[in-house]
Amino acid sequence: MTETQLGFSTFYAERSADFSKRIAEVIPGGVDSPFRSFNEVGGHTLFFNRALGSKLYDLDGNVYIDYLGAWGPAILGHCHPALVHACSQTLLSGPIFGAPHELELELATLLIEAVPSLEMVRFVNSGTEAVMSAVRLARGASSRNLVVMFEGCYHGHSDAVLASRTHSSSSGIPKETSNNTILVPYNDAESLEACLRQYSGQVAACLIEPVAGSMGVIPPDPGYLPAVSQICRQNDVLLIFDEVLTGLRVARGGAQALYGIKPDLTCFGKALGGGMAIGAYGGSKELMSRLQPLGDVYQAGTFSGNPLTMAGGVATLKTLSDKRIYDWLEERTAQLFAGLQAEINKKNLPLQLARVGSMFALVFSEKPVRNFIDSQKIDSKRFAHFYHLLLERGIYFPPSAVDAAALSAAHSEADVEETVRACAEAFAFI
Ligand SMILES: Cc1ncc(COP(=O)(O)O)c(C=O)c1O
Repeated sequence: MTETQLGFSTFYAERSADFSKRIAEVIPGGVDSPFRSFNEVGGHTLFFNRALGSKLYDLDGNVYIDYLGAWGPAILGHCHPALVHACSQTLLSGPIFGAPHELELELATLLIEAVPSLEMVRFVNSGTEAVMSAVRLARGASSRNLVVMFEGCYHGHSDAVLASRTHSSSSGIPKETSNNTILVPYNDAESLEACLRQYSGQVAACLIEPVAGSMGVIPPDPGYLPAVSQICRQNDVLLIFDEVLTGLRVARGGAQALYGIKPDLTCFGKALGGGMAIGAYGGSKELMSRLQPLGDVYQAGTFSGNPLTMAGGVATLKTLSDKRIYDWLEERTAQLFAGLQAEINKKNLPLQLARVGSMFALVFSEKPVRNFIDSQKIDSKRFAHFYHLLLERGIYFPPSAVDAAALSAAHSEADVEETVRACAEAFAFI
């Protein structure tokens, strides 16, 4: 029998299979976030009981080189000593006060230093909260309701941003909610210009992922983000960068530093906490002063800015102040891509490699993906087959043909070599 005939998950993962069945009785679909399910790739989810450096360890004793990176946060790798030390110490002094503390000041100062468009920030608990709050602030500050978003971009699961044509796969959101959002294609400045002309004086903000991370990793075309920024300015529309995925990841200053843009508001999450549950949004003092208790826009949170999370953020940002980490991330991702590209060329596979810094995707399509329509052509069946061939070889990717994978500072040259070898083997069967 060939590997192609064997199908999904032929390797030994009996305990994970058993836990998958049991958890599905008490947690819907066995997951607390649908991204984590194996619906798209088939087979049962794996259960992990340890994550260290670049590796994940499952219940059956299998070890994987991890390219999920917990969907973004694990930029330093798992259990980085600086993060573990800072969080353990903080835990001993009390994980929550419900009142201001020094670590909030420290993290806010570090983040503002790292990202030039920020003068003030607010900490929340997730990327979803950051985007939800930034959109409310933009609406409150402009006294307008409409928000322009870009097809295929993901901004979390709040009603306002989920209510779009491309992410309309949720019932429970009143139809009227989507009356306040308008979608335009990504990487198409003319459509944005036409849209803002059509809705002149009604649009509060444009909300964009500067690098799209949920349709196969799409870098902005050269000149696209400067054009978006200029069009927004000309039309008196606030520009919100959703850097939940790209913040600290593609550069210390995020995608805005990489592409030289100054958005009005920026959202963060994921890598900022290094593994602690975090979100943040920020912008000019003038805009941020519209938030209560200074201004009239409400946003709150029992756990927002809690010491444990702030300690994780401070440790992460301080560690990332060493430029050599970004050099390492760049070199290892370049090593991975050079190795993979050589194998792809040998076999002439319809597979595109896309990346910005250490955020990357192996995209099963004939041509590079530039927008949502292109991303619809990604061959998810072929990806699913490839996915399981990689699992069997000890490589863990996001279980999705379109979501961004991530490399961490803990990945070694040997890890990358092993990954290329595993992919080359898998390529023979797809
Ligand atoms: C660009 C972007 N924005 C927002 C979010 C939502 O963040 P969270 O899952 O922390 O709520 C995500 C999560 O994947 C994201 O990738």
